This record gives sequence, C-alpha cells and structure tokens, in this order.
Amino acid sequence: MCGIVGIVGNREVAPLLVDALKRLEYRGYDSAGVATIADGRLDRRRAEGKLVNLEQLLAANPLPGHVGVGHTRWATHGAPTTNNAHPHFTDGVAVVHNGIIENFAPLRAELTAAGADFVTQTDTEVVAQMIAAHIRTGMDPRAATLATLQRLEGAYALAVMFDSDDGMIIGARNGPPLAVGHGKGEMFLGSDAIALAPFTDEITYLEDGDWAVVTRAGAEIYDHNGNRVTRASQISKGTAYVVDKGNHRHFMEKEIYEQGEVVSHTLANYLDFAGGRVKPDTSGIDFAALDRLAISACGTAYYAGLIGKYWFERFARLPVEIDVASEFRYREMPLTGTMAALFITQSGETADTLASLRYCKAQGVRIGSVVNVVESTIARESDAVFPTLAGPEIGVASTKAFTCQLSVLASLAMIAGRARGTLSDADEKAMVQALVEAPRLFNQILNTIQPQIEALSRELSRFKDVLYLGRGTSYPLALEGALKLKEISYIHAEGYAAGELKHGPIALIDETMPVIVIAPHDRLFEKTVSNMQEVAARGGQIILITDAAGAKASTLKTMATIVLPEVSEIVAPILYALPVQLIAYHTAVFMGTDVDQPRNLAKSVTVE
Ligand code: F6R
Repeated sequence: MCGIVGIVGNREVAPLLVDALKRLEYRGYDSAGVATIADGRLDRRRAEGKLVNLEQLLAANPLPGHVGVGHTRWATHGAPTTNNAHPHFTDGVAVVHNGIIENFAPLRAELTAAGADFVTQTDTEVVAQMIAAHIRTGMDPRAATLATLQRLEGAYALAVMFDSDDGMIIGARNGPPLAVGHGKGEMFLGSDAIALAPFTDEITYLEDGDWAVVTRAGAEIYDHNGNRVTRASQISKGTAYVVDKGNHRHFMEKEIYEQGEVVSHTLANYLDFAGGRVKPDTSGIDFAALDRLAISACGTAYYAGLIGKYWFERFARLPVEIDVASEFRYREMPLTGTMAALFITQSGETADTLASLRYCKAQGVRIGSVVNVVESTIARESDAVFPTLAGPEIGVASTKAFTCQLSVLASLAMIAGRARGTLSDADEKAMVQALVEAPRLFNQILNTIQPQIEALSRELSRFKDVLYLGRGTSYPLALEGALKLKEISYIHAEGYAAGELKHGPIALIDETMPVIVIAPHDRLFEKTVSNMQEVAARGGQIILITDAAGAKASTLKTMATIVLPEVSEIVAPILYALPVQLIAYHTAVFMGTDVDQPRNLAKSVTVE
C-alpha cells in the first residue's frame, strides 16, 4: 500500500526521489518523506498529507546528496503524523517500508528490554532499531540486515541506507513487490517499474525472500539464507506509458473517457472481429475438462468476477464458486484437479488475492489470472495470464480496469462455451458482433448522458444514503455502483439484488432514500419493475437506468430515467458501468471530495 523508492545515483537525488514518489502516490498519500546521505550524514524531510507538502518543504529546505530513499505512506500502524512518516532513522540506519511487520510487538518489547528507545508508533521502526542494534555488536550492514530480515514475520518491501556507506542501499522483499532498476552508473529500487520510468526500463524483480545489495556498480541478490542468487532482468513495458491527466480534471474522468479505446484493445486480444469468433485459446486451461471454476478477487475486481460467474454458468454451463479473496484464503475450500482457479486484479499485487492464488497453487490447481499489470506478482505466478489492456489506472476508484475485466471475462466465457460445446456458432457470432459494437457505444453514451447525469448528481449530493438495485448481471453492477459512490463521495450507499428488497432493506425506503435501479429491458426486466413498484408505493425516489424499450415499458414516475442504447445481454454490464461510474464521479465533484485520492484508500492493497 505504501510506495518506496531508492536511488544510488551520481547527481542530486532528492528531486528524482520526489518524481518517483509522484508515480507511487496512488499507493498511499497519508504522508511522504525522503532521506539522503551527504558527507557521511543522513538527513531527511517528512511531511504529513499529500506529496505536495513534502515538495514545499524541500523547496524551502533542500536536501543534498547522491544517494537516497523515499516513501509515500498509507498508514497501518501509527497515525499519519510527521513523526510516524518514513524514512525512520535509528543510529545511522534509515529505513523505508511497505507492508506490515506482524511480529513487531514482541520484537519491540525485546529491543526495548535491551535498551532501545522507540520514537514512533510504527511497526517499521523495529527494523531500523534491530539493524542498528546488530551493527552496535560489530556486524557490518549486510550481516545486520540479513540477521534482522530473518527475524521478521509478515509482509515487507524495504529499502535500507547506512551513514557508514554512502554508495549502497539494501532492498528486501517478502510479499509486496520490489523492482531493481538498472541505470548507467546509477541504480534504483522501486515498488513498481512505473516509479522508475524516468530513469530506466531495465528492471529485475526480486522474488519473495530475496534481498539485494544495490551499488552504482549493480545489484547483488541473495536469498533468505544469504545465498547469492541470479534473477533475470527484463525490459519493462510499464515504463512506456505517459501518466498524465490530459485535458481532464481528474484521472478518474480521463479513465472513464478512455474506456471505448481500452475495451476495444482488450477485446481485440481475444476476439476475431472480422471472423465473428473468439480467437483460439492458447492458455493451456482445458475448459472442456473442468467441473468447476473458483474465482476470487477483491472490491471492484470481485464484482467483475460476479458478473463473470453469470456468464460462465449461462454460456459455458460451467459452475463457478466465487469469493472475496480475504475470505477464500482462509476458508480452506476443498480443491480438486478437475477444477481451475481464476484471479482477477488490476494491480496484480493485492495481498489477499495473491494469498488465495498461492493456496490454490500449493494444491496443484491450474491458475489463470485476469491482470492489468502484466509484470505483477500475480501475473508472474499464474499458469495462464489473460491481460486486460487498460493501461495504467491512476484514479484510486477503478473504472476502465473494471470494464476491461468484464471484456476479458465475456471472452473467456465464450471460449469456455465453445470448448464445452454449449455455445452454438450462431450465438458466438452474435455475441462477438455485439461486443464489437461496444467501444463505439461508449463514446456515443458519454456524449448523450453526461449533462443529464451532472444535473442528477447535483441532486444526489444532497442525500445521505442511496440504494442500488439490479437483477442478474445488473446485481453485481448495483454493488459496484454503491461501492463507487461511497468510496469517492462518502455518501452511504448499498447495493442489493432487487429481489432481496422485500427481505429487509425495504424498511429503509422513504422520500430521503433515492433508489438507483439498473434494469436493461432483458428477460428479468418485468421482475425488476415489480420491485420498483414496491419502492414507489413507499415514497421512494427512483432513478432508472434502462434502454428505450425499458423506459417505454415502465410507467412509474422517476426522479430521472437514463436511457442507454438497446444492447445484447453480454454487452449490457460493460456499457451500464458507464452511468454508474459517472453518477459517482459527478456526485463526488459536487461534494468537493478528492476524487482521485479519496480519504483512507490506496490503489494497491499489498497488506491484509
Ligand atoms: C474500488 C477499487 C478496489 C479494487 C480492489 C482490488 O474502486 O478500486 O475495490 O478493485 O482493491 O484491487 P486489484 O484489482 O488491484 O486487485
């Protein structure tokens, strides 16, 4: 969740560290800090809140030095104060950390008993304190670091700097990712390749348990037992992307607008547009032989998986078990060789999703992943990777990654249907044809519904609670709508299966509770209309998202009816995501919240 960076350079590094931190700020923005070493002395600047505060501090009080580390924080242990901001210093040792040291309490007690004086509430400080304690006993920095790493439990990506050596940073990884970047006479460490994009595209990813001694001459990599290991370097594709807002007010808005294009790229990877078929599958997952598919993911990616479940079961007659990864990893689901597991993730680094993957892998189940960051840990540990070609998603609230995940899942459901003989050629052709139209419709919808949604959002921003309802694939979309609204506007929202309304939530309905109903005119439409009647009868205010046929068929009075083009069932969730995202976006803009970096959140959740 935090982002870390380290540079062993041959020029002033503080501005470079800040530049890298800007690309990592999506991982956390509670505080930020940098430390450098100059003339054998460590020094640091740290600031609470956004990176801009650190930049101002550095402008007023620059930090010289050619070697340094930096950190952007998503607070876990200890409030987001300047004092708890990284880098942490103990006796000439500086540490930045992403992750959670789970056994920090006993280690802290042990170190305190031995005389250590802790100055922060963080779990990270035990690392600096323990390395420093080992150095005081006469160990050199490498030995002191290895001895410390061998005591740590939990998850960490670390960068450690020493005032006794102004040409070295030690990096270590167990869980959260850490990349070594190879420059010309300079070397880098970073939480991801994009952080290092301005400096180099030659990247070596550390594996779990690895630690690396990074100097201007290169990186020596060792395993958890201190044995030298070799890890191949690669040219990162992630560094080629331009990460800016263009003409948009927020990254989220830009990413919503990009969807036509990135969904088109993603679909083209799986569909033969001209031939009207899915492309031959080369994943090695034998869909015909499966008796079950287990899907797990978190948050928005989980909702994409829920929609995928409807598609796999309907079009491929393949039973799907789906869980949020934080539950799946501990529920000890019995697995068999006749099933496969599918993980869905934008970042490819989500801790719970990764742990679930490893649970399945340990039991010999074949692993597929739908991943946006193809160099991520989850992609690297999967047997088959199904990329979403969304490009970097910077807004913390996921938008284009979600519709690209749906595009991949729709394609996979068709691939599975074909393999299992449950999808006729005619149906496959019709579905491919419908999906081919989707990217064009994105842009058409954006142009037509935008003013209406802005006006509606102004009204919505006055309410405290909002309910979302849907049936079939519109049910997970209702969950996604509620998540999107609450995470960026801070308005309380709930998503429900429309049929569940009468089993409890209907008690909430009155004129203070707008109900957003997602209901394309499909085979379930009439059922949803009955639920809308129940809402209307109790004074609830309905916002109906439907198509022309649905708008005509429903005679109920609504607060607003948002009309989308009539599309086939496989395309509907992909396109209906748009109004759902726009409602959240414009409501948040009216509320004046920090749309791209909502409070308490981080983009890449590398802790449990
Ligand atoms: C919500 C959102 C999160 C992520 C979740 C999983 O807008 O973005 O709910 O979907 O944290 O992240 P990934 O997809 O990186 O595994």
